Amino acid sequence: MLKGRNLINTDDFSVEEIDEIMALAQDINKSPENFSNSCRGKILGTLFFEPSTRTRLSFESAIHRLGGDCIGFSESQSSSTSKGESLADTIKTVSNYVDVIAMRHPKEGSSNWGSHYSSVPLINSGDGGHQHPTQTLTDMLTIKETKGKFSGLTIGFCGDLKFGRTVHSLTKAMSNYDDNHFVFISPEELQIPEYLKIELDNKKCSYEEAKKLEKVIGQLDILYMTRVQKERFFNEADYIRLKDRYILDNRKLKDAKSDLVILHPLPRVNEIAVEVDDDPRAMYFEQARYGVIARMALILKLLGVE
Ligand code: CP
Repeated sequence: MLKGRNLINTDDFSVEEIDEIMALAQDINKSPENFSNSCRGKILGTLFFEPSTRTRLSFESAIHRLGGDCIGFSESQSSSTSKGESLADTIKTVSNYVDVIAMRHPKEGSSNWGSHYSSVPLINSGDGGHQHPTQTLTDMLTIKETKGKFSGLTIGFCGDLKFGRTVHSLTKAMSNYDDNHFVFISPEELQIPEYLKIELDNKKCSYEEAKKLEKVIGQLDILYMTRVQKERFFNEADYIRLKDRYILDNRKLKDAKSDLVILHPLPRVNEIAVEVDDDPRAMYFEQARYGVIARMALILKLLGVE
C-alpha cells in the first residue's frame, strides 16, 4: 500500500511496489486521457531550495495533467527561508496547504529529516549528492519502455559517480533485479562511493570499475552518462581538471551495440556531443518526457486516487 507514504530513498519501496508504479506509468503512457481528472481538487507543493528544470517542471506538469493544482517556490530566496525560517517550520506550514510535497534541497538527508515535520507525503526530489528517487523512477520507466525488462542488462555509468545522486539511486534500484552487471566508468577522484560497492557485494551483484569509456562501451546495453557537477566541488581547479574527462561522441559510439540505450538525467554540459542527439540510441530527451509519466504514477499512488 503506497497511499500516504513518503519517498525519500529508492529502497523505501519494495521491488513489487516499484513494479506497481511502473505498470501504472505504462497505462498512463498508453491512455493519458483516462487520468486527466484523477487529481481534481488535489494540490502539489513544490519546495525547491536548489535550481531545477526537469524535476520541478515535470512535477508541475504531472499534477496539471492529472487535473490537480500546484503551488510552491523555485528558490529559497523567494520563500521565508531568506528571513531565517527553519526547514521544519516551512514544511509544517506548507503541509497545511497541500496534499503532497515534492522537495529539493542541497543538504544530504534534508528530505528524510523534513519528512518528520510533514503531515502529507513528502517526495525527495534530490537531496545534495545523496539520492534522487523520482529520477530513478524516470530512468526505470525509460529502461522498461526501451529494453522491456529490468534484468540481464549490462549497465554502464559514466562521469561523476561520487556526487551523482541519480547514479546512486538507480544503482540501488537495479541491483534488486537478477543478472545485471554494472560498469562504473570514472576518474579515480569521482569513483562510486564505497558504501554502494559494499551493498552490491552483499547482494552478490557483479560490477567492475573502468577509467576509459572506449574500452568498455562495446559490452553495454545501457550507457548512463552524467555531468561533472560544479556545484558539488569545493575546489574549482579540481572541477576544471575533471569536467571534460568523458565526452561521448559519434566516434566513440562506433564500437557500441546497435541497441544500446543512451541515458542522461540532464542537464548536459559537454559530456554528450550534440551530434549524438540524432542517433536513434540517444534516449535522454525521451527520458525527460517519461519523467512526467513516472511522476504522475507516483502522485496517484501516494494519494491513493487511481
Ligand atoms: N534530472 C534532473 O534532476 O534535472 P533538474 O536538475 O533540471 O531537475
